[in-house]
Amino acid sequence: MNVTELQKKILELKEKNDVCVLAHSYQAHEICEIADFTGDSYKLSVDASKVRNKNILMCGVRFMAETCKILSPEKRVYIASPLAGCAMADQMDKALIAEVRKRYPDYTVVAYINTTAELKTICDVCVTSSSAVQIVNKIENKNILFIPDCNLGAFVQKQCPDKNIKLLNGGCPIHACVNTDDVKLAKRLYPNAELLVHPECVPAVCEAADYIGSTSGIMNYAVNSDKKEFIIGTEISIAEHLQYLCPDKSFHYLSLKLICPNMKATTLVDVYNALAGKGGEEIILDGDTIRDAKRCIDEMIRLGE
Ligand code: 13P
Ligand code: SF4
Repeated sequence: MNVTELQKKILELKEKNDVCVLAHSYQAHEICEIADFTGDSYKLSVDASKVRNKNILMCGVRFMAETCKILSPEKRVYIASPLAGCAMADQMDKALIAEVRKRYPDYTVVAYINTTAELKTICDVCVTSSSAVQIVNKIENKNILFIPDCNLGAFVQKQCPDKNIKLLNGGCPIHACVNTDDVKLAKRLYPNAELLVHPECVPAVCEAADYIGSTSGIMNYAVNSDKKEFIIGTEISIAEHLQYLCPDKSFHYLSLKLICPNMKATTLVDVYNALAGKGGEEIILDGDTIRDAKRCIDEMIRLGE
């Protein structure tokens, strides 16, 4: 069977089983092609809250599937690749943050959406990379404890100088691996290209960038720019999607270290198997976790509008 035939079978199964397929933009091109919704974490969580189908299949990582379940508890939510976790989301658990909260009782706890459902239950509000600055600005409290990503937190602190943001030592091991030597090399190879990076990159890399934004932010910037050449400082799939969207422009990887093994775990065959009932995993969360985690996701959607 070739890719087109497999995609056709997937579309038929989606229809037959009343499944909405969501794909994060870090997924491979052939998966995004068969998805009902694609986008960054924020867009997918808003899309998930409006889905009408009885079933949702998330092609992405586990915290994204958990977010869908929290927003649509009456639906059956599946993850296409059960092994796809997020290395950052797994860094901090509820017990650790409950302890830290005790040390900072008058701080508002802002959790990047890349956290487990269990940890979200004790946080005040969620943010995504595309909504973090707007949401932190709208929070009345000056004192913010931002978890787990210290690089995104440092970016937010720069954009929100009036806030007092406390950071912990977490972050994305994929984005945080990129350094200024990678930037120098890419700029030497592609001197006419603009550098677009995700705020999960370290501050020194962000400082060298022409644009800093979420996966959707980077895509929109590149599509709408008059410039013809770009170095993409986030997961390499984004450069691939952009190359399809804008064949007359050139997109280069900032570094081959920017390959997320968790995001790359899902294949088109996994999607087929999950829809055919031969793979994937249903996300099961207890009622208390859903209720408590939903508070901070709802708050994110309210403040993000
Ligand atoms: P976005 O919030 O830009 O979708 O990014 C999610 C992510 O996991 C980045 O590494
Ligand atoms: Fe998690 Fe980093 Fe992969 Fe994004 S790129 S899913 S933050 S490990």
